[in-house]
Amino acid sequence: EFHKHPKEVHFASDGPFGKFDQAQLQRGYKVYEEVCAACHSLSMVSFRELGMLGYNEAQVKNLAKKFDEKAKQPTYNPVTGDRAERSNLPSDRFPHIPYAGAGTPPDLSLMTKARHDGGAYVYSLLTGYTDQPAELLKKFPSAKTPDGLHYNPYFANLNLSMPPPLASDGQVTYDDGTPATVDQMAKDVSAFLIWSAEPHSQSRKQTGWAVLGFLLIASILAFGAYRSVWAGVK
Ligand code: HEM
Repeated sequence: EFHKHPKEVHFASDGPFGKFDQAQLQRGYKVYEEVCAACHSLSMVSFRELGMLGYNEAQVKNLAKKFDEKAKQPTYNPVTGDRAERSNLPSDRFPHIPYAGAGTPPDLSLMTKARHDGGAYVYSLLTGYTDQPAELLKKFPSAKTPDGLHYNPYFANLNLSMPPPLASDGQVTYDDGTPATVDQMAKDVSAFLIWSAEPHSQSRKQTGWAVLGFLLIASILAFGAYRSVWAGVK
């Protein structure tokens, strides 16, 4: 009864006519890179796919290189057995992010698919940290949030090991001048994670409409053909 459904939130990519908002996805990527990537991997996405957010080739190259600060690509020489690291390239997927803190940060590539109402869930989780309600403690005195965990009514277990990652306005500086409120950053990174889970959803929807259009025309022609074939039969 204390677990809450995700908040009502609209994303540009919602619905059959939905289109990704590239500027928002770029802002969302920046939040991922500057905040979430301290702990979370994004291993199903490759750097060159960021081109779909409107970055040109040189920019993608720079973003890959810049990610070296977080993690590099592991290399293995089968002859000598040496393991080393090299810089990220556009053709690479995002490298694994090493993490030594409490809990296990899950990979975020498919997070919005893994959870019901994924985009709204991530948004709600990020903006949902709060104190434990008094009624909860009254009803279940032993359910006090343990040390090192954080209460969040949108998380199924109510307590999670992720500290509030978006804690203050302006944590990220947006290149497009959008005010980086906590709410805005949460929305933008959620939109980005909707994209990362299904980067081709937009072209899939557009193909769907083209197919429906074709079927409609084909049906009209078929009906016309049927009428003309049987026109002379009484
Ligand atoms: C869990 C998102 C930043 C550490 C999660 C979950 C999501 C998420 C969606 C999964 C919740 C679930 O299982 O339903 C994000 C986003 C971030 C961010 C979008 C950036 C805005 C961070 C940072 C850290 C971190 C900076 C480390 C300091 C963790 C850990 C968990 C987790 C340890 C596992 C929690 C548990 O299962 O108890 N995060 N996170 N996250 N995150 Fe983050």
